[in-house]
Amino acid sequence: MAEVIVVGSREAAGALVAEAIERLVTGRPDAVLGLATGDTPLPVYRALAERVAVGLDLSAVRGFALDEYVGIPVTHPESYHSVIDREVVRPLRLNPASVHVPDGRPLGIETAGERYEDAILAAGGVDLQILGVGTDGHIGFNEPGSSFASLTRVKTLTKQTREDNARFFDSVDDVPIHSITQGLGTILRARRLVLLAFGAAKAHAVAAAVEGPLTASVPASAIQLHPRATVVVDEEAASML
Ligand code: GLP
Repeated sequence: MAEVIVVGSREAAGALVAEAIERLVTGRPDAVLGLATGDTPLPVYRALAERVAVGLDLSAVRGFALDEYVGIPVTHPESYHSVIDREVVRPLRLNPASVHVPDGRPLGIETAGERYEDAILAAGGVDLQILGVGTDGHIGFNEPGSSFASLTRVKTLTKQTREDNARFFDSVDDVPIHSITQGLGTILRARRLVLLAFGAAKAHAVAAAVEGPLTASVPASAIQLHPRATVVVDEEAASML
């Protein structure tokens, strides 16, 4: 059963998770963070950037992004390579060489998942994994139907996810159809999970993830299997709990 913390605002959520990360890094300067993209984790990154501005040193921290699109160049502004660089690496002054994003380039895509798993293992595993959740209950890009044992691999995005993410592109037709994502099994290996969700649009996914049955139809329900999972939500996202 995940621990649920209801906060008054996204900023409060950001501050709470940033504090947990600061504690982790104080004890272990080269901690391994699991990084999520999307709007949800932005308050965490902003709160951390504020701490970095007043002296928190994250330069030895290592990072692994959850996922990447397949079918757009890494230089595309909405590739997760670009997003992680813009929203995480630069503001938090991380060492770019220590931050990894799955390789979604067509050449070698069939081995990219295995290479990513090896890199996570070589780093000693993820200490704290930040997660958002899709309106359809996906985490990373593990769409409904994903196996709880899955590892990093290519997944096809659902229509719902492509529509949700169309806001980052000129039109829904420009949203890639495929992605490469850490699997649910990969995510569950992290030593700590922190799932954040804000707004009424996430209320159903949050309730299903936290209180619903364990089911591949709601990939986020996999967090119930984790011994140290925390869910940080605002009142709206908590409204169906
Ligand atoms: C995206 C990402 C997920 C993210 C989710 C929610 O598709 N692949 O990692 O958690 O959708 O996005 P947002 O936080 O913008 O609502």
